[in-house]
Amino acid sequence: MKHITALIAALLSGTSCMFADSPLLRCSDRTFSLPSTRYMHKIRTADSTAAVYVTDLPDGLAWNARRKLVEGSIDSIGDYSYTVVVDGKYRVPVQLTVSDKLALPTPMMGWMSWNTVLGNVSESVMRETADAFVDKGLRDAGYRWLGIDDDWHCGRERPADGIAAPDSIRFPNGMKAVGDYLHDKGFKFGIYSTAADLTCDSKFGSYRYEEADAAKYAEWGVDFLKYDYCFVPRLGIGSDSDPATAYYLYKRMNDALERTGRPIVLYMCEWGSTQPWRWAHKAGAPMWRATHDHRDGWMGRILEDDIHKHGIGVWQALQIWPEFWSYTGVNRFSDADMLCIGIRGRGLASSIILEGVSRDKDTGIFYKDGKQYHGMSTDEAHTEFVMWCMWSSPLMLSLDARDSLAEEDLAVITNPELIAINQDAMGQCAEYIGAEHGIQIWAKDLADGDVAVAAVNLNDEASDYTVDFARIDALDSDAVYSARNPLDRTDMPDMKGSAAVRIPAHGVKVMRLRRK
Ligand code: GLA
Repeated sequence: MKHITALIAALLSGTSCMFADSPLLRCSDRTFSLPSTRYMHKIRTADSTAAVYVTDLPDGLAWNARRKLVEGSIDSIGDYSYTVVVDGKYRVPVQLTVSDKLALPTPMMGWMSWNTVLGNVSESVMRETADAFVDKGLRDAGYRWLGIDDDWHCGRERPADGIAAPDSIRFPNGMKAVGDYLHDKGFKFGIYSTAADLTCDSKFGSYRYEEADAAKYAEWGVDFLKYDYCFVPRLGIGSDSDPATAYYLYKRMNDALERTGRPIVLYMCEWGSTQPWRWAHKAGAPMWRATHDHRDGWMGRILEDDIHKHGIGVWQALQIWPEFWSYTGVNRFSDADMLCIGIRGRGLASSIILEGVSRDKDTGIFYKDGKQYHGMSTDEAHTEFVMWCMWSSPLMLSLDARDSLAEEDLAVITNPELIAINQDAMGQCAEYIGAEHGIQIWAKDLADGDVAVAAVNLNDEASDYTVDFARIDALDSDAVYSARNPLDRTDMPDMKGSAAVRIPAHGVKVMRLRRK
C-alpha cells in the first residue's frame, strides 16, 4: 500500500514526466562519454521543422549546425552541461557525464540461455557453454557476459524464508559455484528475474523482494541482472505500458542493486512497450530491450495488427529501429534482443511466432511450407549481425555453443571488423537515412572519423542500388574515400560521391569509409 501511495503521489505531483527525456526532443538530454574520446550528440526535435541550436558548451565541444550535432572530446572526468535552444525560446538543459567508470561504455557481448535450453538451464549447461565459448574462440572475440535466463528457480513459490534459491537438482552446488566457475574462466555472470510476483515462465519474481534478491545476487557473484516485465502489478493506476509504473518498478530494483555495493548491470527487459530509450537510463539501466522477442527468421508473425507485438523477425526490427536510433549513446544502449545467428532452426524458443512456421509438438522440429525450417538464410543472418553492430545493440548470442556451428556463422560472429563497429567507443547508433526501392540506408559515425554505411535489401530478390553520398550528411560527396568491406574483410575501390552495390535478397552491403 505504501508503494501505491508513493506512486500515486509521484504521478499527481507531475514527476511522471520528469524522469523522461524532454518531450521537445527526439534524442536524449542525458548523455555519457569516455574521457579523451570523440563524443557526438545528434540533436533531433519532436517537431522536425523546429529551429535548433546549442549553447553554453564546455571547452572541447562545438555545435555543428549543418549536421545538427554536438561534437568534440573532453579530457577531464566530470559532469558537464549545455543547452539546446528550440525555436529560439525553449531551453533544454543537457547533462553529460565524462567518466572511465561507466557501467557499460560499449554494448554488452555475451550469451543468454533462453533460446538454447528454455527452462532446462543448469550448472552443467552454464559450465559447458563457458567451456565451448573458450574452445570456439568466442570469449576471446569479446563474448564475456554469460547469463542464466528464466527458470533457474526452485519453484513457482518463493521458499518460506523469503530467500531466493535455485532448483537444487539442476544447480546442485548452488549459484555461487556457477559464478565462481564463470569468473575463473574470464566471464561475467548474469541472472534473470522480473519486476512482478512471477517470472514470464511462472517462477517467483522479485517485486517486494528486491532488497533480499539483490543481496543474494551479490553474494552469488552476479554481474548483471536481466529484469523482465511479465505479470507486473498494476499498482492501482495506469497499465503495464505506463512508463511511470515501469520507472518505479525498475528504479526499486536498481536502488536495491546499488545498495549491495557490488556493481551489477541492470538489463531492462520491458520489450519497448514504454519507450525505455526515453527514460531507462534515469532508472539506472545502461541497456534495455527495445522490442518484443526476436526470432530466428526474416518475417515474424504480427499480432493484433501491431508491428511491435511479438514475432520480431529481422524485417520487423528494421522497421522499428528508425523510431529511436537517435536516443542511443555510450552507456545507453537499446537492445534488439538475443541474436539468432548460428541457431539454424535448432533453438527451442527461437523459431516460434514466425510467419508460416509451426512446430511438431512430439519432435519439437520446426516446419515451413511442409519442409523442415532451418531458420534465417545465410544472407538474413548477415543482415541481423551487421545491423545489430550498426545499431550498437548488445550482442547477446543464443546459439548452442556446445553443438557444432557452421564455419561461416562462426566467422561472422567473431569477425573483428564487424565487432569493432559494434564496440566503437563513441557508442552511436547508425542513423536511418531512408528507404528507396526496398533498400534501407543506415550510416554510423565512428570514433576515428570513419563512417560505416549499410544498405539493406528488403526485397525478395537481389537488387542493384547506388548509394548517393549526398543523402548522408556524415559524408562529403566531393571527397574521395577509401573503402573496406568489413563483412568480407576485403578492400573496395576508392569511392567519390556514390557507391554502386549489388545486395542479395534480404541481405546487406556494409562499407567502412575513410576520407583520403
Ligand atoms: C520474455 C523475454 C525473453 C525470455 C523469456 C523467459 O519473453 O522477453 O527474452 O527472457 O521471457 O521466460
